[in-house]
Amino acid sequence: MDQQAIKAMTGKGAVEALVRSGMKLGLGTGSTALYAVRHIGALLRAGTLRDIRAVPTSYQALIEGEHWGIPLFTLNAPEIAGTLDLTIDGADEVDSRHYCVKGGGGALLVEKIVAYASASFAVVVDESKQVEHLGLHFPVPLELIPEARIPVMKTLEALGAEAQLREALRKAGPVITEHGNFLLDIRFKHPVDPAALEIELNQIPGVVANGFFTRLRPRVFIGRADGTLDIRE
Ligand code: 5RP
Repeated sequence: MDQQAIKAMTGKGAVEALVRSGMKLGLGTGSTALYAVRHIGALLRAGTLRDIRAVPTSYQALIEGEHWGIPLFTLNAPEIAGTLDLTIDGADEVDSRHYCVKGGGGALLVEKIVAYASASFAVVVDESKQVEHLGLHFPVPLELIPEARIPVMKTLEALGAEAQLREALRKAGPVITEHGNFLLDIRFKHPVDPAALEIELNQIPGVVANGFFTRLRPRVFIGRADGTLDIRE
């Protein structure tokens, strides 16, 4: 199976397994989560699924949700009232405890707000995302306000991490997030404690959010090249 087919099978598989009529859903970001959004849209169009209220985690999810006619709200709308039944989202890395790194698509801030407001969280990945230690291969994204760039980078260096400002493609200069902030991509040289770092990184003045997701133990749907879908509770 090629990469896109694996992503499609994984996104659709999570929807089939978990999404039911009447649910309030978080719509994830990234190429794998997008297949889940599309499948929710297709099931709504077919009438197989009804009474879904959804909160997008990014403009990507918003645009896809609008395209499919999925009823969309903010997390603060009375129809959602700050809590969701389920969020399905992708991840850049997942370890054996189901701790994740997210934010490769730059949407970590709202992804985290939405995931942490959900009673249930499911992560959809292909097998290449499984790692023993988070943060050694795929960099951990960190969203920060632009004014804090150098002080935050120096603090990260003192913590033993290498931090790089994320540069935009087809636009000169850095990536600007959907909330007007910069992103740093952090690499650690040695295995780290993701749960401790998720808290510690947020203490640095100017940091808005970091890509460690450790407070939830998501169900993980792992799509494999042999066409199987591994579901880990
Ligand atoms: C976006 C994310 C994505 O979910 C993550 O980058 C995985 O994306 P993909 O499924 O395209 O590999 O965290 O901010």
